Amino acid sequence: MQLMSKTLVVCGALACAGLVHAADIKIGVAEALTGGAAQYGVTIRNGFQLAADEINAKGGINGNKIQLVIEDEQGKKEEGINVFKKLIFQDKVLMIFGPTLSNSMFAAGPVANAAKVVVFGTSNTANGITDIGPYVFRNSVMESDVLPVTVAAATKQYKLQKVAVIYGNDDAFTKSGYDVFKKVLEEQKLPVTTTETYVKGDVDFKAQLTKIKASAPDAVICSCLAEEAANIILQARGLGIKAPFIGGNGFNSPKLFEISKLAGDGTFVGSPWANTNPAPVNKAFVAEYQKKYNAEPNQFAAQAYDALYIAAAALKDVKLSGDLNADREALKNALPKVAINGVTGPFKFRPAKTKDGKPGGWDADQKPFIYVVQGGKFALHDAK
Ligand code: ALA
Repeated sequence: MQLMSKTLVVCGALACAGLVHAADIKIGVAEALTGGAAQYGVTIRNGFQLAADEINAKGGINGNKIQLVIEDEQGKKEEGINVFKKLIFQDKVLMIFGPTLSNSMFAAGPVANAAKVVVFGTSNTANGITDIGPYVFRNSVMESDVLPVTVAAATKQYKLQKVAVIYGNDDAFTKSGYDVFKKVLEEQKLPVTTTETYVKGDVDFKAQLTKIKASAPDAVICSCLAEEAANIILQARGLGIKAPFIGGNGFNSPKLFEISKLAGDGTFVGSPWANTNPAPVNKAFVAEYQKKYNAEPNQFAAQAYDALYIAAAALKDVKLSGDLNADREALKNALPKVAINGVTGPFKFRPAKTKDGKPGGWDADQKPFIYVVQGGKFALHDAK
Protein backbone atom coordinates (compact mmCIF):
# COMPACT_ATOMS: atom_id res chain seq x y z
CA MET A 1 0.00 0.00 0.00
CA GLN A 2 1.68 3.17 -1.25
CA LEU A 3 -0.46 5.69 0.54
CA MET A 4 0.94 4.91 3.95
CA SER A 5 4.37 3.94 2.67
CA LYS A 6 7.02 3.52 5.36
CA THR A 7 9.78 4.05 2.84
CA LEU A 8 11.63 7.31 2.78
CA VAL A 9 10.97 8.95 -0.55
CA VAL A 10 12.98 11.80 -2.05
CA CYS A 11 10.59 14.52 -3.18
CA GLY A 12 10.69 15.86 -6.73
CA ALA A 13 12.82 18.99 -6.99
CA LEU A 14 9.68 21.07 -7.40
CA ALA A 15 7.90 19.54 -4.43
CA CYS A 16 10.41 19.85 -1.61
CA ALA A 17 14.07 19.50 -0.97
CA GLY A 18 14.37 16.87 1.71
CA LEU A 19 13.01 13.54 2.83
CA VAL A 20 9.33 13.02 3.46
CA HIS A 21 7.91 11.45 6.54
CA ALA A 22 6.46 8.01 6.95
CA ALA A 23 2.67 7.82 6.52
CA ASP A 24 2.36 10.49 3.86
CA ILE A 25 -0.81 11.20 1.94
CA LYS A 26 0.27 11.32 -1.70
CA ILE A 27 -1.58 13.92 -3.75
CA GLY A 28 -0.87 14.40 -7.46
CA VAL A 29 -0.51 17.91 -8.85
CA ALA A 30 -0.57 17.97 -12.67
CA GLU A 31 -0.15 21.53 -13.91
CA ALA A 32 1.32 23.39 -16.89
CA LEU A 33 4.73 24.40 -15.53
CA THR A 34 6.18 25.13 -18.97
CA GLY A 35 4.65 26.55 -22.17
CA GLY A 36 2.10 29.34 -22.54
CA ALA A 37 -0.25 28.04 -19.84
CA ALA A 38 2.59 28.17 -17.28
CA GLN A 39 1.42 31.76 -16.72
CA TYR A 40 -1.33 30.07 -14.73
CA GLY A 41 0.26 26.73 -13.81
CA VAL A 42 3.30 28.00 -11.90
CA THR A 43 1.22 30.15 -9.57
CA ILE A 44 -1.23 27.26 -9.11
CA ARG A 45 1.69 25.03 -8.06
CA ASN A 46 2.85 27.74 -5.65
CA GLY A 47 -0.62 27.96 -4.06
CA PHE A 48 -0.67 24.19 -3.47
CA GLN A 49 2.84 24.15 -2.06
CA LEU A 50 2.10 26.99 0.35
CA ALA A 51 -1.07 25.29 1.63
CA ALA A 52 0.70 21.90 1.94
CA ASP A 53 3.58 23.43 3.89
CA GLU A 54 1.16 25.16 6.26
CA ILE A 55 -0.93 22.03 6.82
CA ASN A 56 2.20 19.91 7.36
CA ALA A 57 3.72 22.47 9.74
CA LYS A 58 0.59 22.13 11.86
CA GLY A 59 0.96 18.35 12.02
CA GLY A 60 -0.70 17.27 8.77
CA ILE A 61 -4.14 15.69 8.49
CA ASN A 62 -4.99 13.41 11.41
CA GLY A 63 -1.22 13.06 11.90
CA ASN A 64 -0.46 12.23 8.23
CA LYS A 65 1.70 14.65 6.24
CA ILE A 66 0.75 15.67 2.70
CA GLN A 67 3.22 14.75 0.00
CA LEU A 68 2.61 16.59 -3.27
CA VAL A 69 3.75 14.65 -6.34
CA ILE A 70 4.14 17.45 -8.86
CA GLU A 71 4.20 16.87 -12.63
CA ASP A 72 4.43 19.24 -15.60
CA GLU A 73 1.59 18.50 -18.05
CA GLN A 74 2.82 21.37 -20.29
CA GLY A 75 -0.70 22.59 -21.08
CA LYS A 76 -0.98 19.77 -23.64
CA LYS A 77 -3.75 17.16 -23.85
CA GLU A 78 -1.46 14.18 -24.58
CA GLU A 79 0.91 15.14 -21.78
CA GLY A 80 -2.07 15.55 -19.44
CA ILE A 81 -3.15 11.97 -20.17
CA ASN A 82 0.42 10.63 -19.72
CA VAL A 83 0.92 12.42 -16.43
CA PHE A 84 -2.48 11.32 -15.10
CA LYS A 85 -1.65 7.67 -15.88
CA LYS A 86 1.69 7.98 -14.11
CA LEU A 87 0.15 9.58 -11.02
CA ILE A 88 -2.74 7.08 -10.81
CA PHE A 89 -1.05 3.78 -11.67
CA GLN A 90 2.63 4.32 -10.88
CA ASP A 91 2.71 6.83 -8.04
CA LYS A 92 -0.64 5.57 -6.73
CA VAL A 93 -1.75 8.99 -5.52
CA LEU A 94 -4.93 9.35 -3.51
CA MET A 95 -6.27 12.10 -5.80
CA ILE A 96 -5.12 14.53 -8.50
CA PHE A 97 -5.29 18.32 -8.74
CA GLY A 98 -5.20 19.79 -12.25
CA PRO A 99 -4.68 19.98 -15.14
CA THR A 100 -4.39 23.72 -15.77
CA LEU A 101 -6.44 24.11 -18.94
CA SER A 102 -10.01 22.95 -19.54
CA ASN A 103 -8.75 21.68 -22.90
CA SER A 104 -6.49 19.20 -21.08
CA MET A 105 -9.14 18.34 -18.46
CA PHE A 106 -11.54 17.17 -21.18
CA ALA A 107 -8.76 14.77 -22.32
CA ALA A 108 -7.24 13.64 -18.99
CA GLY A 109 -10.27 13.91 -16.68
CA PRO A 110 -11.94 10.80 -18.17
CA VAL A 111 -8.78 8.77 -17.31
CA ALA A 112 -9.14 9.63 -13.61
CA ASN A 113 -12.91 9.24 -13.65
CA ALA A 114 -12.66 5.76 -15.23
CA ALA A 115 -10.04 4.75 -12.64
CA LYS A 116 -12.34 6.05 -9.87
CA VAL A 117 -9.82 8.63 -8.72
CA VAL A 118 -10.91 12.13 -7.67
CA VAL A 119 -9.67 14.76 -10.10
CA PHE A 120 -10.01 18.32 -8.83
CA GLY A 121 -9.60 21.28 -11.19
CA THR A 122 -8.76 24.65 -9.71
CA SER A 123 -8.54 26.63 -12.95
CA ASN A 124 -10.86 24.87 -15.43
CA THR A 125 -13.72 27.25 -16.16
CA ALA A 126 -15.20 25.84 -19.39
CA ASN A 127 -18.78 24.71 -19.10
CA GLY A 128 -19.25 20.93 -19.11
CA ILE A 129 -16.09 19.88 -17.22
CA THR A 130 -18.05 18.12 -14.46
CA ASP A 131 -20.18 16.28 -17.05
CA ILE A 132 -17.16 13.97 -17.34
CA GLY A 133 -18.37 12.03 -14.31
CA PRO A 134 -18.81 11.81 -10.54
CA TYR A 135 -15.07 11.82 -9.68
CA VAL A 136 -14.59 15.28 -11.23
CA PHE A 137 -14.57 18.28 -8.88
CA ARG A 138 -13.61 21.91 -9.31
CA ASN A 139 -13.50 25.09 -7.28
CA SER A 140 -12.92 27.23 -10.38
CA VAL A 141 -16.10 29.16 -11.15
CA MET A 142 -17.64 28.44 -14.56
CA GLU A 143 -17.66 31.02 -17.34
CA SER A 144 -21.48 30.88 -17.32
CA ASP A 145 -21.48 32.06 -13.68
CA VAL A 146 -19.00 34.89 -14.27
CA LEU A 147 -19.47 36.36 -17.76
CA PRO A 148 -23.06 37.64 -17.32
CA VAL A 149 -21.86 39.72 -14.37
CA THR A 150 -18.72 40.93 -16.19
CA VAL A 151 -20.66 42.00 -19.30
CA ALA A 152 -23.37 43.74 -17.27
CA ALA A 153 -20.76 45.68 -15.25
CA ALA A 154 -18.83 46.75 -18.37
CA THR A 155 -22.04 47.73 -20.18
CA LYS A 156 -23.04 49.93 -17.28
CA GLN A 157 -19.60 51.49 -16.92
CA TYR A 158 -19.01 52.20 -20.61
CA LYS A 159 -22.67 52.56 -21.71
CA LEU A 160 -21.94 49.94 -24.37
CA GLN A 161 -24.22 49.80 -27.42
CA LYS A 162 -22.32 47.32 -29.60
CA VAL A 163 -19.33 45.03 -29.16
CA ALA A 164 -16.94 42.98 -31.31
CA VAL A 165 -15.92 39.45 -30.36
CA ILE A 166 -12.67 37.52 -30.88
CA TYR A 167 -11.98 33.98 -29.65
CA GLY A 168 -9.82 30.90 -30.19
CA ASN A 169 -11.97 28.26 -31.87
CA ASP A 170 -9.72 25.23 -31.18
CA ASP A 171 -9.46 25.38 -27.38
CA ALA A 172 -12.19 24.04 -25.08
CA PHE A 173 -12.05 27.00 -22.69
CA THR A 174 -11.94 29.80 -25.28
CA LYS A 175 -14.72 28.12 -27.32
CA SER A 176 -16.88 27.58 -24.22
CA GLY A 177 -16.27 31.20 -23.20
CA TYR A 178 -17.38 32.31 -26.66
CA ASP A 179 -20.58 30.25 -26.45
CA VAL A 180 -21.36 31.82 -23.08
CA PHE A 181 -20.52 35.37 -24.27
CA LYS A 182 -22.80 34.86 -27.32
CA LYS A 183 -25.71 33.81 -25.12
CA VAL A 184 -25.09 36.61 -22.62
CA LEU A 185 -24.93 39.24 -25.39
CA GLU A 186 -28.25 37.99 -26.75
CA GLU A 187 -29.82 38.01 -23.29
CA GLN A 188 -28.45 41.47 -22.48
CA LYS A 189 -29.46 42.70 -25.97
CA LEU A 190 -26.01 43.93 -26.91
CA PRO A 191 -25.48 43.75 -30.71
CA VAL A 192 -22.29 42.19 -32.11
CA THR A 193 -20.48 44.14 -34.85
CA THR A 194 -18.28 41.21 -35.96
CA THR A 195 -17.05 37.85 -34.61
CA GLU A 196 -13.44 36.89 -35.37
CA THR A 197 -11.53 33.68 -34.64
CA TYR A 198 -7.95 32.43 -34.37
CA VAL A 199 -6.23 29.13 -33.60
CA LYS A 200 -3.65 28.07 -30.99
CA GLY A 201 -0.17 29.34 -31.74
CA ASP A 202 -1.30 32.37 -33.81
CA VAL A 203 0.78 35.46 -33.07
CA ASP A 204 -0.48 37.88 -35.73
CA PHE A 205 -4.06 39.04 -35.25
CA LYS A 206 -3.96 42.12 -37.49
CA ALA A 207 -6.37 40.72 -40.12
CA GLN A 208 -9.05 40.05 -37.49
CA LEU A 209 -8.36 43.31 -35.65
CA THR A 210 -8.59 45.33 -38.88
CA LYS A 211 -12.12 43.97 -39.36
CA ILE A 212 -12.92 44.71 -35.73
CA LYS A 213 -11.66 48.29 -36.12
CA ALA A 214 -13.80 48.81 -39.24
CA SER A 215 -16.88 47.63 -37.32
CA ALA A 216 -16.35 50.39 -34.70
CA PRO A 217 -17.33 48.52 -31.52
CA ASP A 218 -17.64 50.18 -28.11
CA ALA A 219 -15.72 47.25 -26.54
CA VAL A 220 -13.89 44.11 -27.68
CA ILE A 221 -14.86 40.83 -26.06
CA CYS A 222 -11.95 38.39 -26.00
CA SER A 223 -12.44 34.74 -25.05
CA CYS A 224 -8.73 34.07 -25.06
CA LEU A 225 -5.92 32.55 -23.03
CA ALA A 226 -3.31 34.98 -21.72
CA GLU A 227 -0.66 33.98 -24.25
CA GLU A 228 -2.72 35.19 -27.21
CA ALA A 229 -4.54 37.95 -25.33
CA ALA A 230 -1.35 39.96 -24.73
CA ASN A 231 -0.63 40.11 -28.48
CA ILE A 232 -4.26 40.85 -29.32
CA ILE A 233 -4.36 43.81 -26.93
CA LEU A 234 -1.00 45.22 -28.08
CA GLN A 235 -1.82 44.80 -31.78
CA ALA A 236 -5.28 46.35 -31.29
CA ARG A 237 -3.71 49.47 -29.82
CA GLY A 238 -1.12 49.47 -32.64
CA LEU A 239 -4.00 49.61 -35.15
CA GLY A 240 -5.62 52.49 -33.27
CA ILE A 241 -8.46 50.53 -31.59
CA LYS A 242 -9.22 52.45 -28.41
CA ALA A 243 -12.21 50.40 -27.22
CA PRO A 244 -11.77 48.62 -23.85
CA PHE A 245 -11.52 44.83 -23.63
CA ILE A 246 -13.79 42.41 -21.77
CA GLY A 247 -12.20 39.06 -20.93
CA GLY A 248 -13.04 35.67 -19.48
CA ASN A 249 -11.03 33.71 -16.93
CA GLY A 250 -8.00 33.56 -19.25
CA PHE A 251 -7.50 37.26 -18.50
CA ASN A 252 -6.91 36.68 -14.78
CA SER A 253 -3.15 36.33 -15.20
CA PRO A 254 -1.36 39.49 -13.99
CA LYS A 255 1.45 38.53 -16.37
CA LEU A 256 -0.87 39.37 -19.28
CA PHE A 257 -1.09 42.97 -18.12
CA GLU A 258 2.62 43.12 -17.32
CA ILE A 259 3.25 42.24 -20.98
CA SER A 260 0.54 44.45 -22.47
CA LYS A 261 1.46 47.26 -20.04
CA LEU A 262 -0.98 50.18 -20.12
CA ALA A 263 -2.50 48.91 -23.40
CA GLY A 264 -4.72 46.64 -21.29
CA ASP A 265 -6.07 49.40 -19.08
CA GLY A 266 -9.85 49.58 -18.89
CA THR A 267 -10.26 45.79 -19.34
CA PHE A 268 -13.12 44.20 -17.39
CA VAL A 269 -12.72 40.69 -15.97
CA GLY A 270 -14.43 38.66 -13.23
CA SER A 271 -12.89 36.44 -10.54
CA PRO A 272 -14.12 34.81 -7.32
CA TRP A 273 -11.02 36.07 -5.47
CA ALA A 274 -10.58 39.65 -4.27
CA ASN A 275 -6.93 40.48 -3.62
CA THR A 276 -8.04 43.17 -1.17
CA ASN A 277 -10.40 40.89 0.81
CA PRO A 278 -9.62 41.95 4.39
CA ALA A 279 -10.62 38.60 5.94
CA PRO A 280 -7.71 37.39 8.15
CA VAL A 281 -7.40 34.15 6.17
CA ASN A 282 -6.83 36.12 2.95
CA LYS A 283 -4.49 38.67 4.50
CA ALA A 284 -2.37 35.84 5.91
CA PHE A 285 -2.39 34.07 2.52
CA VAL A 286 -1.28 37.20 0.66
CA ALA A 287 1.50 37.90 3.21
CA GLU A 288 2.77 34.30 3.34
CA TYR A 289 2.71 33.93 -0.44
CA GLN A 290 4.64 37.17 -0.83
CA LYS A 291 7.19 36.00 1.74
CA LYS A 292 7.66 32.57 0.18
CA TYR A 293 7.71 33.51 -3.52
CA ASN A 294 8.69 37.19 -3.44
CA ALA A 295 5.70 37.95 -5.68
CA GLU A 296 2.05 38.85 -5.25
CA PRO A 297 -0.40 35.94 -5.45
CA ASN A 298 -3.12 35.89 -8.10
CA GLN A 299 -6.52 34.23 -8.36
CA PHE A 300 -5.00 30.99 -9.68
CA ALA A 301 -2.76 30.68 -6.62
CA ALA A 302 -5.71 31.59 -4.37
CA GLN A 303 -7.95 28.90 -5.86
CA ALA A 304 -5.22 26.25 -5.59
CA TYR A 305 -4.57 27.23 -1.97
CA ASP A 306 -8.29 26.98 -1.14
CA ALA A 307 -8.57 23.68 -3.03
CA LEU A 308 -5.95 21.97 -0.86
CA TYR A 309 -7.75 23.18 2.27
CA ILE A 310 -11.02 21.82 0.81
CA ALA A 311 -9.38 18.41 0.24
CA ALA A 312 -7.80 18.55 3.72
CA ALA A 313 -11.21 19.27 5.28
CA ALA A 314 -12.66 16.23 3.51
CA LEU A 315 -9.69 14.06 4.50
CA LYS A 316 -10.14 14.97 8.17
CA ASP A 317 -13.41 13.02 8.00
CA VAL A 318 -11.96 10.07 6.09
CA LYS A 319 -10.56 7.19 8.10
CA LEU A 320 -7.74 6.08 5.82
CA SER A 321 -7.80 2.30 5.71
CA GLY A 322 -4.66 1.60 3.73
CA ASP A 323 -6.76 0.10 0.91
CA LEU A 324 -6.07 2.61 -1.86
CA ASN A 325 -9.29 1.99 -3.81
CA ALA A 326 -11.41 2.24 -0.67
CA ASP A 327 -9.61 5.40 0.44
CA ARG A 328 -10.05 7.01 -3.00
CA GLU A 329 -13.76 6.21 -2.86
CA ALA A 330 -14.10 7.53 0.69
CA LEU A 331 -12.50 10.83 -0.35
CA LYS A 332 -14.90 11.11 -3.31
CA ASN A 333 -17.84 10.64 -0.93
CA ALA A 334 -16.51 13.09 1.68
CA LEU A 335 -15.67 16.01 -0.64
CA PRO A 336 -19.20 17.15 -1.56
CA LYS A 337 -20.02 17.78 2.10
CA VAL A 338 -17.18 20.27 2.56
CA ALA A 339 -17.91 23.97 2.99
CA ILE A 340 -15.06 26.31 3.90
CA ASN A 341 -14.43 29.99 4.36
CA GLY A 342 -11.31 30.29 2.28
CA VAL A 343 -9.27 33.06 0.72
CA THR A 344 -11.89 33.23 -2.05
CA GLY A 345 -14.64 33.60 0.56
CA PRO A 346 -17.36 31.10 1.45
CA PHE A 347 -17.14 27.98 -0.72
CA LYS A 348 -19.36 24.97 -1.28
CA PHE A 349 -19.95 22.51 -4.09
CA ARG A 350 -22.96 22.31 -6.42
CA PRO A 351 -23.83 18.97 -8.06
CA ALA A 352 -23.61 18.61 -11.85
CA LYS A 353 -25.18 16.07 -14.18
CA THR A 354 -23.64 14.08 -17.02
CA LYS A 355 -24.98 14.67 -20.54
CA ASP A 356 -27.26 11.63 -20.22
CA GLY A 357 -28.75 12.93 -16.98
CA LYS A 358 -26.78 10.74 -14.55
CA PRO A 359 -25.08 12.24 -11.44
CA GLY A 360 -21.97 14.07 -12.61
CA GLY A 361 -19.21 15.81 -10.73
CA TRP A 362 -19.23 18.88 -8.52
CA ASP A 363 -18.97 22.54 -9.52
CA ALA A 364 -18.05 25.63 -7.52
CA ASP A 365 -20.95 27.49 -5.96
CA GLN A 366 -19.43 30.99 -5.77
CA LYS A 367 -20.10 34.44 -7.14
CA PRO A 368 -17.51 36.63 -8.88
CA PHE A 369 -15.97 39.98 -8.10
CA ILE A 370 -15.45 42.28 -11.07
CA TYR A 371 -12.09 43.90 -11.72
CA VAL A 372 -11.03 46.68 -14.04
CA VAL A 373 -7.40 46.92 -15.06
CA GLN A 374 -5.77 50.23 -14.10
CA GLY A 375 -2.10 51.10 -14.48
CA GLY A 376 -1.43 47.50 -15.60
CA LYS A 377 -2.93 46.06 -12.39
CA PHE A 378 -6.26 44.61 -11.29
CA ALA A 379 -8.43 47.07 -9.35
CA LEU A 380 -11.63 45.87 -7.73
CA HIS A 381 -14.66 47.39 -9.45
CA ASP A 382 -17.59 45.72 -7.76
CA ALA A 383 -18.25 43.60 -4.68
CA LYS A 384 -19.76 40.09 -4.87
N1 ALA B 1 -9.73 29.03 -17.21
C1 ALA B 1 -8.83 28.52 -18.21
C2 ALA B 1 -9.25 27.18 -18.68
O1 ALA B 1 -10.24 26.69 -18.19
C3 ALA B 1 -7.42 28.55 -17.72
O2 ALA B 1 -8.65 26.61 -19.55
